[in-house]
Amino acid sequence: MDNNYKPNPENLVEVNDLKMYFPIKTGLLSTTPLKAVDGVSFAIKPGETLGLVGESGCGKTTVGRALIRLYKPTDGDVFFDGKRVDDRSIGALRKDMQMVFQDPYSSLNPRMTVEDIIGEPLDVHKLYSSRADRREKILHLMELVGLNAEHATRYAHEFSGGQRQRIGIARALATNPRFIVCDEAVSALDVSIQAQVINMFEDLQQKLGVAYLFIAHDLLVVHHISKRIAVMYLGKMVETADADELNENPMHPYTTSLLSAVPYPDPIVAKSSKRIILEGDVPSPLRMPSGCPFRTRCKYATEQCAAEMPKLTDRGNGHMVACWNK
Ligand SMILES: Nc1ncnc2c1ncn2[C@@H]1O[C@H](COP(=O)(O)OP(=O)(O)O)[C@@H](O)[C@H]1O
Ligand code: SF4
Ligand SMILES: [Mg+2]
Repeated sequence: MDNNYKPNPENLVEVNDLKMYFPIKTGLLSTTPLKAVDGVSFAIKPGETLGLVGESGCGKTTVGRALIRLYKPTDGDVFFDGKRVDDRSIGALRKDMQMVFQDPYSSLNPRMTVEDIIGEPLDVHKLYSSRADRREKILHLMELVGLNAEHATRYAHEFSGGQRQRIGIARALATNPRFIVCDEAVSALDVSIQAQVINMFEDLQQKLGVAYLFIAHDLLVVHHISKRIAVMYLGKMVETADADELNENPMHPYTTSLLSAVPYPDPIVAKSSKRIILEGDVPSPLRMPSGCPFRTRCKYATEQCAAEMPKLTDRGNGHMVACWNK
């Protein structure tokens, strides 16, 4: 933690050198820190979306959870609206920072009615003056996410995946947050439903001015909704840029291979483009390669890449890349 760190007052969320290590038992008496997030920095302005992408296991969920203090970070500075987020301040900030989860089947209690699922945060934070006021607020939230009033007394298990995700979003909106971590919020849905739910996230942002950290492993999904995109690999940011710039001019070899794994909607473009296939899996964060974390899968790797970790540096207009050869 850096007590002298001063956040930029223009940012709603600001994260500096965030680290989240999990102690893993490696012997009877020994533990090794699993570095799930290892020195990540970024900022999000009010009403803006930052996309966060990377393969499974890169640390995206851990960033989201540590950011809103569902985990206590190992190190680093997190600010919300200029205030440091810590054990003392989090109680008062909880209402402002919400999370929508990937799996609408396991994150909603199937035996609760829609009304009670959405009403729960209203109860917890005592956000109504009477039963009638509570009901009115719930119906308003349901309307915001496109659910009919008749659905209020039905049970979560009666709904489709897309509708369940709408219920989850209405619940996240109940406390009128200024920031929502959307963790793979559309990843489990059919492609046609994905588009509807993404459009809804965008409409809600315009109406309510809410900012998102939009996490997904699919760059296409993230590109559509994000102003900026950050690419993560093995607990580190390897590239960040405005969404269009990242799409048109990716610099990090990992980003390039992620982009070439995106299926093109146009078959002619798909045929003429060279696909770079990512070989192998992400190494375990317990056996982190020396130097550049991507070097075990990178076809441009040199001796320098094994010896020294490249720093994230600005290549112009806020396009940041961590690679020796770019
Ligand atoms: N609670 C935990 N305890 C120990 N290891 C964890 C925990 N949560 C995540 N990890 C590990 O941290 C790494 C990053 O996980 P995660 O943040 O879930 O990645 P992603 O969301 O990008 O798939 C993985 O290696 C995962 O196994
Ligand atoms: S630093 Fe080296 S290994 Fe890492 S991405 Fe760049 S070229 Fe590849
Ligand atoms: Mg995840």
